[in-house]
Amino acid sequence: MEDSTKMDATHHAFNSTQAVGKQVFGKIPGRIAEIHLVSSHPEVYEPCDDSFALVDALLADRTNLLEHRPMLCMEVGCGSGYVITSLALMLGQEANGLYYLATDINPHAARVTTETLEVHGVHAEVISTDIALGLEKRLTGLVDVMVVNPPYVPTPECEVGGAGITSAWAGGENGRSVIDKILPVADSLLSENGWLYMVTVVSNNPSQICAQMWEKGFASRIAVQRSTEEESLHVIKFWRDLDRLAEAKAAAATTRTISSKIIESVLSQFPSSHFGAVTAMTIDDHFKGVYILILNACYGFFKIFLLHLIYLR
Ligand SMILES: C[S@@+](CC[C@H](N)C(=O)[O-])C[C@H]1O[C@@H](n2cnc3c(N)ncnc32)[C@H](O)[C@@H]1O
Repeated sequence: MEDSTKMDATHHAFNSTQAVGKQVFGKIPGRIAEIHLVSSHPEVYEPCDDSFALVDALLADRTNLLEHRPMLCMEVGCGSGYVITSLALMLGQEANGLYYLATDINPHAARVTTETLEVHGVHAEVISTDIALGLEKRLTGLVDVMVVNPPYVPTPECEVGGAGITSAWAGGENGRSVIDKILPVADSLLSENGWLYMVTVVSNNPSQICAQMWEKGFASRIAVQRSTEEESLHVIKFWRDLDRLAEAKAAAATTRTISSKIIESVLSQFPSSHFGAVTAMTIDDHFKGVYILILNACYGFFKIFLLHLIYLR
């Protein structure tokens, strides 16, 4: 990851110059953080290929982001502050009604990010915490844009969440340990129209991540794909797909109805003197009430019920 930093910084500077060139022709570009102004610390992750890919994805989507009119943008795992600073520069500040928040488990990173923001003249609230621990009450359902370049490198599990620079890349089994903790947090913090941009590598099994998010009602697309000598990166954009959400709810309701019918049909096999009252009860009552014990006791019937469920889904 580290070796190619300089090469990519140059590449990125070149891209920025191109963007400035575009401004001359009337297209307002997004400014991004300047590499030479990004603060550093030996224990903090320096902007690298993955950071550049994430910023490029945001830059490419800048028009949509501006139209999206986010009010609260958040970065999880801000490191040097390169990404959150770039986001603040490209979208604008509080004057435009935007508020930025960044977290990092590494306290050095929180300090370095604050310095990077300051030197670029932008502001974000920077908090040293594990993902968003302690911020749930304040942020649930309110984050419009979340950006994450997580520790994604497959490592032994014991290296995950360690102090200092190790926590920048140590991702545990398949590099998924931290990612799998971030996904449900993103689901709960993101607003109804919330967007998530996340860096992944092939060993993280990005298609499985997309499938997991699909189950939560998120659609996704690859915003940037980039291969280096060491890794093949994807920046994936997730957004709540309201149709998909409705579908997921409808599917859950259908499953409940089918389950209800199967249970009723199973229960109707029993003598009515014992179970006649059951059919008059709601499915919730079945699950919550004493009759679930009867179902569990009738193991044979329960097995049929499960088989029905599997085949009918
Ligand atoms: C790959 S680095 C990315 C840094 C920066 N966002 C960038 O793109 O250059 C991952 C960052 O996530 C932080 N991190 C790791 N585990 C975390 C956790 N559980 N909660 C918050 N931050 C975490 C690390 O300290 C590190 O700064």
